[in-house]
Amino acid sequence: MIVQKTEIVKEGKTESLVFKKKVTKKGPGSKDNKPFYNPSMELSRDLSIVINQWIINNCKKHAHLLDGLGASGIRGVRLANELDGDFDVTINDWNEKAFSLIKKNLELNKLDNVIVSQKNLNVLLSENNYHYIDIDPFGSPAHFVDSAIRSVYNHGLIACSATDTAALCGIYPNVCLRRYGARTFQSSVKHEIGLRILLGFICRETAKYDKGIEPIISYSTDYYFRVYVKIRNGKSYANKSMENFSVISPKEILIFSDNDEHDMGPLWLGKLHNKKAIKEIRTLLFKKELNTKNSLWKLLSLFEEEANAPPFFYTTDDIASFLKMAPPKIEKIFEKLTNKGYKVFRTHFSSTGFKTNAPLDEIKKVF
Ligand SMILES: C[S@@+](CC[C@H](N)C(=O)[O-])C[C@H]1O[C@@H](n2cnc3c(N)ncnc32)[C@H](O)[C@@H]1O
Repeated sequence: MIVQKTEIVKEGKTESLVFKKKVTKKGPGSKDNKPFYNPSMELSRDLSIVINQWIINNCKKHAHLLDGLGASGIRGVRLANELDGDFDVTINDWNEKAFSLIKKNLELNKLDNVIVSQKNLNVLLSENNYHYIDIDPFGSPAHFVDSAIRSVYNHGLIACSATDTAALCGIYPNVCLRRYGARTFQSSVKHEIGLRILLGFICRETAKYDKGIEPIISYSTDYYFRVYVKIRNGKSYANKSMENFSVISPKEILIFSDNDEHDMGPLWLGKLHNKKAIKEIRTLLFKKELNTKNSLWKLLSLFEEEANAPPFFYTTDDIASFLKMAPPKIEKIFEKLTNKGYKVFRTHFSSTGFKTNAPLDEIKKVF
């Protein structure tokens, strides 16, 4: 008999029983059928705490929240334990071991505001409606997006993670075309292209139901993409969203790639974040006990700055190597472009990256 070792971890103010796993640089393995727990996703779970507090504060009714792919249940158990207000949480996972671990974690935290479910997520979404739907799969969320859009209430949020970054960033272009219906290839802005392909896919899936999307927060890390998207019912919202759904020619932006002959997309060319919402969400950090509070504060400040920036970015390294010179300090580039009257924004995609409305010739001159 294989002895499965569990341990208790504490995130926020919640204790959870999880299975110990061998953790590699890319996170814990997922092939052994034990409920998955990835400690490096704590910041992502902390962010979902403050976003859900914001949802509950703005919801005029009792809010129904769903952790659709629960595994150990840690995300949903934390929502149930750490949020204030009028709400309930459903935690779902079709895996037997996950289902029993979720129940143990509810007992551990003495929670009675949770419904535990052991269904195929697509079935559950076809039967119920929610104000918040969390889809945190192994790999692509593409199989769940259609049901989530049908299930979510007007003004509700869908949160999606995607760990199939190799497909979305152009390492496997055929996989991206198959899953997301978009053409892509590797480039210096591959993470932003990948994130925008994911948003474009959600926009297209939403519009067929005469609904529109409004991204609240969208971000990329080395190992996953994560988007929080508000859904608005009505043809006018659908049409407005679809105005941001387009292909782009790599020649319209200076991207560094071996393959700049073909269009990319379709993808989302609208805003990645909602500045007003981020301001409100950020103030809620003060009221919560979170281990990643300082990092989250910095990240949310960066998203706030990036919210009104144009799509795509340059890095000082890429432009310097294009001009065959040593990269200048990024602060100098900000100062010089600002002095010339252009807008310049930091970006979460790269610490040496910047977004600007300056034309490329001006940027080259400044370098
Ligand atoms: C990456 S894990 C979720 C991690 C978790 N959200 C967390 O924060 O730790 C994905 C989970 O989805 C479950 N799953 C996969 N496909 C499913 C489906 N169609 N319906 C329900 N559960 C599913 C798996 O059993 C697995 O436990």
